[in-house]
Amino acid sequence: MTSEKKSIHGQWSSRLMFILAAAGSAVGLGNIWKFPYITGENGGGAFVIMYLVCILLIGIPIMMAEVLLGRRGRKSPINTMRDLAAADGLNPAWGLLGWMGVLAGGLILSYYSVIAGWALAYVFRAAAGLFHGLDTGGVGTLFNSLVSSPEKLLAWHTIFMFMTMFVVAQGVKNGLEAAVRWLMPLLFVLMLVMVGYAMNTGAFSKGLDFLFAPRFGDVFYHCQAIDGRELCEFSWKPLLIAMGHAFFTLSLGMGAIMVYGSYMPKRTSIAAASVWIAIADTTVALLAGMAIFPIVFANGLEPGSGPGLIFQTLPLAFGQMPYGRLFGALFFILLVFAAWTSSISLIEPAVAWLVENRGFSRLRASVFSGLAVWLLGIGTIFSFNLWSGERYQLFGMTFFDLLDFLTANIMLPLGGVLIAIFAGWLMSREASEDELNLAHPLLYRSWRFLVRYVTPTAVFIVMLNALGVF
Ligand code: PHE
Repeated sequence: MTSEKKSIHGQWSSRLMFILAAAGSAVGLGNIWKFPYITGENGGGAFVIMYLVCILLIGIPIMMAEVLLGRRGRKSPINTMRDLAAADGLNPAWGLLGWMGVLAGGLILSYYSVIAGWALAYVFRAAAGLFHGLDTGGVGTLFNSLVSSPEKLLAWHTIFMFMTMFVVAQGVKNGLEAAVRWLMPLLFVLMLVMVGYAMNTGAFSKGLDFLFAPRFGDVFYHCQAIDGRELCEFSWKPLLIAMGHAFFTLSLGMGAIMVYGSYMPKRTSIAAASVWIAIADTTVALLAGMAIFPIVFANGLEPGSGPGLIFQTLPLAFGQMPYGRLFGALFFILLVFAAWTSSISLIEPAVAWLVENRGFSRLRASVFSGLAVWLLGIGTIFSFNLWSGERYQLFGMTFFDLLDFLTANIMLPLGGVLIAIFAGWLMSREASEDELNLAHPLLYRSWRFLVRYVTPTAVFIVMLNALGVF
């Protein structure tokens, strides 16, 4: 197998384009919508620290492994895994890892698109000036008027899925490359503006304290007042959620980064690119937290209020600040774009496989897989209205909660660890050393140590702990 071969689907035009595209995949709703609300639900600072440690020790090494497998195989993750396994005399059943990724990508996209639909709806609400003068109750009512309506959610979900299919159908180069180049930096600047606003809310230090001060008790003990007595319960689950989020936010463990790696030019440093992607991704998440928590505390909101958090805090800020209509609309437009550059990577592994193995055109492959995902999204839509009641829940989780838990906390870490095991234990040392091409042997040895020992052990301990095995 020569590693100079190219993907039939095309190639990024430069090293920078790979970084931008992969950062586009990584930076998305996970950073701006999910990170703040799960941090709020899981007690703050100590949760953030666990998440950062996971990014560093698990996320970056696995990202390098995933990119290297993709670039070596140059095909859809399913075929890449099968080919690489065959090249090393291993069982072609490794292709199943690619299948699990396709499944995880579809499950994630089905709810991702619904939430991106909320962001779309909020673009128009902001532009229409609906946030002006709203108080805490007003933003809540506005939010509920959206999520309680299956018809509205379905309409926005449909539009977003169309947008995704449209770009994916265009192919690697003509799709998002141009948009990513401008929109990602703009998003970054607007996040800084929001943090600037948060600094003047009067609760900036309280917000920072919540986000960064490590209080492990707040994370692992959940306390409730029952009959006037405080009852606290210990659980490892926040650690699993922090780790799962490291995979989710870096787009790891389901083939998105692998398929992007397969379009990467040969002589580009995988390590440097991975570190840059992780830095960009983490910075956006922390900025989002720094913008949101001060607003939460300044307005007496509840940090643990769940998935509606940014849709109920940021409108308060936009409703009060000068040019809030403009900034509000711009912010939600950028959020939609961040979601868009991620959603295409969630479906690309499936589309690439349909093109390779079933001879579909990109258009047909995009429509086919997009329709399946669209249909599944209806379950998430109902989770917020018709099926929100306990009668429709499993283990206390709605359909949406269940999908989110299953993908982020189980499938992605499992996929990531299998990728690490493949790259660290099964693939020949020459192959990974050649593909990574690190400047110093010590760097290569550290990477290999991390993927061989640290990541599998850490992921299994965290999983088994959270599932109550020990
Ligand atoms: N990383 C994206 C985000 O944070 C979500 C994603 C997960 C994209 C997995 C691709 C694969 O929003």
